[in-house]
Amino acid sequence: MFVEMNPSIKIDRAAWLQGPSAECSVAPRDRKNPWRLVLLGAPGVGKGTQAELLTGRLQACHLSTGDVFRAASQRRDCDQSPAMKAALEYMRRGELVPDSTVWDMVRERSQCILQCDGFILDGFPRTLTQAELLKELMEKEQLSLSAVVNYELPVAEIVQRLSGRRTCEKCKSVFHVTERPSSGGGICDRCGGRLFQREDDRPEAIAVRLDAYERSTAPLIQFYKSLGLLLPVVAKGSPDEILARTMERLAQVDKLTKAL
Ligand code: AP5
Repeated sequence: MFVEMNPSIKIDRAAWLQGPSAECSVAPRDRKNPWRLVLLGAPGVGKGTQAELLTGRLQACHLSTGDVFRAASQRRDCDQSPAMKAALEYMRRGELVPDSTVWDMVRERSQCILQCDGFILDGFPRTLTQAELLKELMEKEQLSLSAVVNYELPVAEIVQRLSGRRTCEKCKSVFHVTERPSSGGGICDRCGGRLFQREDDRPEAIAVRLDAYERSTAPLIQFYKSLGLLLPVVAKGSPDEILARTMERLAQVDKLTKAL
């Protein structure tokens, strides 16, 4: 299941980001055991950073619900549905978007989950209801998750990562003012776009997000543990060190799958 891939190759997530009418250019690879992963962990723990690195290593699509909401926020006001406008308000405040809105949005894009030759879900599911709905959707197609990686980091380090994050307005690459600085200061190294601070990375929104995580998302740890899918990974150190730790845990799953 481990296939080395050029890390500079970007998988085009058009259908996931824009909706079912968009063309997806990810060619089906027809692999026997594609990776179907969920990344869990508090906001800012580094899920998006790891998802990007894992995408290159596992040849799986990176599907982030937060990215879908942010892509929608850049559409013209009149192109946003009332439900999406309401969802973006929740996001600005740092609160979770209601399950019904999230599920409508995921269901519209369910071919990305059911037909993708491997995926990495980042930021979904985030509540027990969402986890049950995902399980049901996959079971109907006789599919199952390969594993759920849970990234663990003390809160103080999480706050430090969130408050220093900068994102490229064009290509969405993620930097950090001290830990992963762009060599061009406020300009993206990859595409020359302007770097900005996410609205939900303001201190008041960070506190709301961490609280929402504890109340609604942390219970998923027990949910996936009881299904035998949970792989805890310490999220300290550099992104490459965390990637190596994750790959080690996934190699154990790979061995077990082959032994079955
Ligand atoms: P979403 O976009 O999913 O945000 P999140 O879960 O809060 O996660 P983040 O993107 O903030 O952090 P991350 O863990 O990906 O960390 P990153 O790699 O960027 O969701 C946003 C909002 O959308 C939610 O609040 C909610 O309103 C809504 N939403 C989305 N999905 C939803 C759902 N399913 N249900 C309901 N609502 C939903 O890293 C953070 C920073 O740290 C970066 O600057 C990075 O460069 C740096 N960094 C990363 N790794 C390291 C490292 N090893 N060392 C030092 N710095 C590092």
